[in-house]
Amino acid sequence: MKPIEITKGVFDVGVTDWNIRDFHGYSTDLGTTYNAFLIVDEKIALLDTVKKDFADQLLENITQIVDPQKIDVVISNHTEMDHSGSLARVMHRIGQDKALYCSKMGHKNLARHFPQQFNYHPVETGDELSLGDRTLTFMETRMLHWPDSMFTYLKEDKILFSSDGFGQHYAGPEKFDDQIDGDTIMYHAKKYFANILLLYAPLIQKLIERVAALGLEIKMICPDHGVIWRQDPGKIIDAYARWSRQVPAPKAVVLYDTMWHSTEMLAEAIVSGLLDAGVAAKPYHVRKWHRSEIMTAVFDARALIVGSPTLNNGLFPTLADILTYIKGLKPQNKIGAAFGSYGWSGEAVKLINEELKAINVEIVDPGLRVQYVPDKEALKAGFDFGRRIGKAVLG
Ligand code: FEO
Repeated sequence: MKPIEITKGVFDVGVTDWNIRDFHGYSTDLGTTYNAFLIVDEKIALLDTVKKDFADQLLENITQIVDPQKIDVVISNHTEMDHSGSLARVMHRIGQDKALYCSKMGHKNLARHFPQQFNYHPVETGDELSLGDRTLTFMETRMLHWPDSMFTYLKEDKILFSSDGFGQHYAGPEKFDDQIDGDTIMYHAKKYFANILLLYAPLIQKLIERVAALGLEIKMICPDHGVIWRQDPGKIIDAYARWSRQVPAPKAVVLYDTMWHSTEMLAEAIVSGLLDAGVAAKPYHVRKWHRSEIMTAVFDARALIVGSPTLNNGLFPTLADILTYIKGLKPQNKIGAAFGSYGWSGEAVKLINEELKAINVEIVDPGLRVQYVPDKEALKAGFDFGRRIGKAVLG
């Protein structure tokens, strides 16, 4: 792929992973990119590398601009292997003694990934590196989303290299936000936030306040995945500020699994009741939807309603799976309830309620249990259950 000069002397030398469909459990139906950047000044700097399988492509991209051996410094904004996987190969090619800048935690973490003795230069927030006419400023962003994560700001061009922050798992012909439909790319940015960053939302709020206090002018944001924000970087910063506050939308997500359609019939009756109350609601059969799509829907919903048949005196395993995933991401400000069809013992509703409480969901109804196949009356009870929760959503 031909590198793109994103502004004079700054190139995207990253690669596109068109065919990845599962990124350690995250559904990447459109593929993704591993962006890496080359700044050509008196000194030449490479910011981040790419996944190991793409090392040759990265080096080929760099070669189209400069001889890789002319690179003076490498900056590692993040240790995760989609950005560091090619590091050993790159350092070997450019010269093992070349300076490698990273955060202090980056130093620790890179040393746990690579046995080689690199020429580490650990940096702290506010440290600067002059490349000649241009200056890089480092900003630690610890736990966003690894302990080593940091941003690098190119002062003179006002470009923020934001690592995973503001990224999207999206691969397409577009390189910039002004080349793609806004709703499409914001969906992928939101999905990324909901599945990768949500746990750290309180830290993101503080980071945004910190950056605002610094008064940094940002003309362009270059994340390590997806498109570059150049037309309106404020749009994604505002979205992060909003998303990190986790103010829910007046909508409901109904998650369920079903064995012989009985719990499914209840799910649909409940959705019907929610819609009747004026709440946007949608059922998600958890075996038909990928968990990262479900999480994107759950992320900004006010109500999380969960249904499961009782299987072997317990929850259906798929529900245990998705509830464990949701719990790990610690979503806030939700109300919810449980439902399910059962044959004889019927523990599922009680067990879901326990899980919802562990997710910090406020239970607004004790739950709806129906034995075997819902009759007309049971479906009416499902509709009313949906309506009641819908009213609670609208407050
Ligand atoms: Fe894109 Fe946390 O790696």
